[in-house]
Amino acid sequence: MELPAQSGLAHYRNRAQARLPAAVWRYLADGDGNGNDAALAAVRLMARPLQDVRGGHTRLKLFGQVLEHPILLAPVAYQRLFHADGEVASAMAASAQGGQLLISSLASQPFADIVQAAASPGAALPWFQLYWQGDRPRTLRLLQRALAAGCSALVLTVDAPVKRVTLTLPEGVAAVNLEAVPLPDTQGSQVFDGWMTQAPTWDDLAWLRRQTTLPLLVKGLLHPDDAEAALAAGCDGLVVSNHGGRVLAGATLSLQALEQIAARVQGRVPLLFDSGIRSGRDVFVALAHGATAVLLGRPFVWGLASDGAMGVARVIRLLRDELELTMALTGCRQLEDIGVHSARR
Ligand code: FNR
Repeated sequence: MELPAQSGLAHYRNRAQARLPAAVWRYLADGDGNGNDAALAAVRLMARPLQDVRGGHTRLKLFGQVLEHPILLAPVAYQRLFHADGEVASAMAASAQGGQLLISSLASQPFADIVQAAASPGAALPWFQLYWQGDRPRTLRLLQRALAAGCSALVLTVDAPVKRVTLTLPEGVAAVNLEAVPLPDTQGSQVFDGWMTQAPTWDDLAWLRRQTTLPLLVKGLLHPDDAEAALAAGCDGLVVSNHGGRVLAGATLSLQALEQIAARVQGRVPLLFDSGIRSGRDVFVALAHGATAVLLGRPFVWGLASDGAMGVARVIRLLRDELELTMALTGCRQLEDIGVHSARR
């Protein structure tokens, strides 16, 4: 077997940059240089040779779903910007690789088409990423559309209430599953009296919990007290994330937040992690710091822009191969063997 090169993703990143219009590339790359990836890369790993790791695997069970590996596709808006096949291509790839994907509220294809593309015997249906839609009735209608399409878990993203438009969408690319949300006409602050009047609050989270019995996760918490409050509101899991460094400039590093939240949560619910994963080794580092699984953002989009579904599948497989190699070299036969002892900063 040919072992994956260290910088395995560089090929896809370069190819994506060469293929995408400059404005789309800038939109995708927004937040680069935030330090998340550097923090993950700075962690040192302890080699543990001579362990018998035959029969090892990366399988896990998450909210009752069996996944072949812990590398999920993060919710990413408007995927038809990056490839004509859009979210459907990503769904096919995630499913073919025995993984999972989160469908963004801002998907550029109908929910039902994306769910359909992921459907195969034994495959767990995609999760739905919810952006608050300004009020409860509109939010509920969106949720119901996603659930009617078959989504199997719900992830409320809370860290991006203020939307700065960074890209003019080309013709034919739109958030096709959304109703228009009118912005309030205000003489006051555009932030406090405008956008933030449409953002969810802790009360809305408690309300959302009552709307579905499906697993409910919150994405975008960094403070351990907020993690505690989300658990108190009845959430089944968290996605520790700083949105890839794209929203709050200079936000707490994702790995640092993971360490602090894992210390507080103490295994009561699964913790997912994103922002900065750039290799299978990074996946290992996240798991060693308390994550159950990770979400991949920009890297899978590089695969999508490079080669559609095939590119996404190759990126997932590349990271899984790197994860397996890292596990073997650190004496871990299964994900549960990856512990704090495996990684040191
Ligand atoms: C995102 N992200 C995002 N998150 C979300 O909850 N809903 C969304 O619609 C989007 N849209 C989106 C578009 C693009 C182009 C990017 C790059 C990211 C954030 C995403 O889910 C994830 O948190 C980060 O991308 C993870 O960081 P990395 O892996 O890109 O470093």
